Amino acid sequence: MKKDLLTLLDFSAEEIKDIFNLTEKLKRERGRDTWRPLTGKSIGLIFAKSSTRTRISFEVGVSELGGMPLYLDQGKMQVGRGESIPDTARVLSRYLHGIVIRTFAQSDIEGLATCGSIPVINALTDDYHPCQILADLYTMLEHSGRIEGTKLVFFGDGRSNIANSLINAARLFDFELVIAAPESFRPDEARFGGRSNISWNPDAVDAAKNADYLYTDVWVSMGFEEERAERMKIFIPYQVNGKVAAAAKKDVKFLHCLPAHRGEEVAAEVMDSPMSIVFDEAENRLHVQKAVMARLF
Ligand code: CP
Ligand code: NVA
Repeated sequence: MKKDLLTLLDFSAEEIKDIFNLTEKLKRERGRDTWRPLTGKSIGLIFAKSSTRTRISFEVGVSELGGMPLYLDQGKMQVGRGESIPDTARVLSRYLHGIVIRTFAQSDIEGLATCGSIPVINALTDDYHPCQILADLYTMLEHSGRIEGTKLVFFGDGRSNIANSLINAARLFDFELVIAAPESFRPDEARFGGRSNISWNPDAVDAAKNADYLYTDVWVSMGFEEERAERMKIFIPYQVNGKVAAAAKKDVKFLHCLPAHRGEEVAAEVMDSPMSIVFDEAENRLHVQKAVMARLF
């Protein structure tokens, strides 16, 4: 039976550990290995929103696994002119062996997965970004040697795709997740799954205490541009800067899914400091996604 990655909860912790073992091997042997599990397979990469990392890492990843990536601009497909998601899913299933999709509504990728017969990977929706968080967890594993027992604090929009996916990660792995966000962007506690290792704290400096990882994301996610003025004001106390970092552990590391806006969600003194591991994190998108595709496609 096909398996999709629509949210992190589609995987168990054991399945993710298996993906990380494969990631480690693919990363170590990149450029030298001869394993081509996607030989003869065509993978559609459908994008309705902008992307640098996700698009390029998936295109390169499919090629390196021996498959053929097809970049598809959702706005140029008939679905952009009203063709239904179920019909699109049925047609694509006749040509392709897998779909990677970045779009707005989570329900659209659920529709593709339900009506099509090929695996679907969520490359970001308004609600979730599971591939990013898999790379983040793998980066934590590399830097701390473990995920469990660490403390990660996320600053900013507690209802964003990144926050929601981090919450799912903390349901699967026993690390402490604190979401530092204003009241009006506090996370939906119904998403916590009753887990006591996940909490909300409106005080950024207090939240940062004893943290191993500080993580932030843009204040204005794609698709929320009309809220820009309000967001630029309300998130100011949640900037990750030297004062916030000083409250964390001495060897704290800084994560950011990127793209970053220095002077907004992160100060240059943090972004460009030795505590920042954002480019390792970005690189790991490639290795982790190759492992995911090798398992699903
Ligand atoms: N982090 C991330 O998904 O980056 P892109 O928007 O550039 O793909
Ligand atoms: N929350 C951001 C993530 C970008 C990778 C957005 O959706 O724009």
